[in-house]
Amino acid sequence: GAAVEVDISGIKPGEKLTVEWRGKPVWVVRRTPEQVAALKTLTPKLVDPASERTAYPIPEYAKNAGRSIKEEFLIVIGVCTHLGCSPSDKFVAGPQPSLPDDWQGGFLCPCHGSIFDMAGRVFKNMPAPDNLEVPPHMFLSDSKVLIG
Ligand code: FES
Repeated sequence: GAAVEVDISGIKPGEKLTVEWRGKPVWVVRRTPEQVAALKTLTPKLVDPASERTAYPIPEYAKNAGRSIKEEFLIVIGVCTHLGCSPSDKFVAGPQPSLPDDWQGGFLCPCHGSIFDMAGRVFKNMPAPDNLEVPPHMFLSDSKVLIG
């Protein structure tokens, strides 16, 4: 399918833009400095923190804690790796229903409760077996990204 060019200049820290690519929702999340800092603290709680064992082909440039080219921007396919539901944004840190008390922000799948961090990495002991998929992408400039 055709690549999609996305203007990311209007996304504020802590916000998400959803675009469609190959019939799938792709999320572009602009992480806050706090959300970026939290990524490094979560390693022991995650199935595949460095995206080494995922069933999906992960681009080389996304094999890092933030799963991203730029720390600030997460770009993932917004489809749960369990049975394909669309996880909800849970970007606010702190205790809340269906989330751990030490929640640092991320995503919650409404179907069977899988939780993912702000890099789309799945937590241990969840129905979802893998991290959210990272689509091929590149930055054309500070304000434009090409997905696909
Ligand atoms: Fe997401 Fe089952 S589809 S947890």
